[in-house]
Amino acid sequence: MKSDTELQNTGAQEFLQISFNILNTFGNRLPVSLCIHDDEFGRVVPLFAKDTRLSDKKKEQVDNYCSEGNLFISKEDYASLAGHISQNLGALLTEHYLDEAAAAEIFYEGVLEKVRDFYSHPIGDTLEELRTVLAIFCEYVWVDPNRWTHFFNTLKREKDICCHAVNTLFVGTSIYLKVLYKPGEKMDLNPLAMGLVLHDLGMTQIPATVSEKPSKLLYKERMRMQEHVDIAEKMLNRLEIRDDVVKACVFDHHERLDGSGYPKGRRGDTITLEARVCAISDAFCGMIADRYHRPGLNAILAAIILTESKAKYDPKLTTSLISFIISNNPEMKALLQDKAKMQQLRAIALQKAAQ
Ligand SMILES: [Fe+2]
Ligand SMILES: [Fe+2]
Repeated sequence: MKSDTELQNTGAQEFLQISFNILNTFGNRLPVSLCIHDDEFGRVVPLFAKDTRLSDKKKEQVDNYCSEGNLFISKEDYASLAGHISQNLGALLTEHYLDEAAAAEIFYEGVLEKVRDFYSHPIGDTLEELRTVLAIFCEYVWVDPNRWTHFFNTLKREKDICCHAVNTLFVGTSIYLKVLYKPGEKMDLNPLAMGLVLHDLGMTQIPATVSEKPSKLLYKERMRMQEHVDIAEKMLNRLEIRDDVVKACVFDHHERLDGSGYPKGRRGDTITLEARVCAISDAFCGMIADRYHRPGLNAILAAIILTESKAKYDPKLTTSLISFIISNNPEMKALLQDKAKMQQLRAIALQKAAQ
């Protein structure tokens, strides 16, 4: 295997090394172009183009380069690799060469595809596929806290219900782990992951004239929107989803600690930790998403609004949310200690949120 220094000297940092683990998912037709490092020229050169059918001879050649640690794809080809691996997410569980930022992007695409399938056809088959992909995600995410930050960095801004579901999954599992994680102690994240992804399932049945209305909702329309929780309850029953954690996320993600939420107006400890995680992740992801009339809020502003709403959102969890944002932006740490600036930011944030 070539050392990092060797690769940097040859400009190979523009390339991702391909392992056997990933290579084995390629099949006979290459989903991406392959390159090798040519010692004579001192740079990376093309080997086989995308869509090349691998004969036994070519396959042997590729295997040999791979075992020498001398098989790469150009980063320009990264989207094709992401599309391919998202169909084979299990390969990422034992993958050591692909960096974690790339793995997070690939997970996003892979989970998003299964969420889209299920949201457009909420039946047993698509649910099982979603369950499988979430199990792989949960297996991957708990191993190393470093991975959570990368998941956090992958969030999308589109106003799209399926992107919102994946964003909520990534934020929710990250803050939940941040609060409860103990190194080496495995947690069953599967029900929480499913709850986070399904929390707005009922929205698929709300007419677009209401759910996508660009202007402020009238009282009647607001009531109609709130029905998405009851609709989801019926859908979960029909799909025979009976897990308490999933149900808590779906039924209670609009409940607030001070009793001001809906549908039941639950308070404090009657709202489970998982539902509180879902509530914060949902609210945060809703705020950072683009709207028809304005771009999404800056993540820092959104987190400040939630942190300041101590009566509604669990402060332990909003602190965990802020810590992710600080870890991505060290200047935030100093800012958080500057009371005057924080007040200013909060005023801007609230003003923006009201627009
Ligand atoms: Fe909702
Ligand atoms: Fe939501």
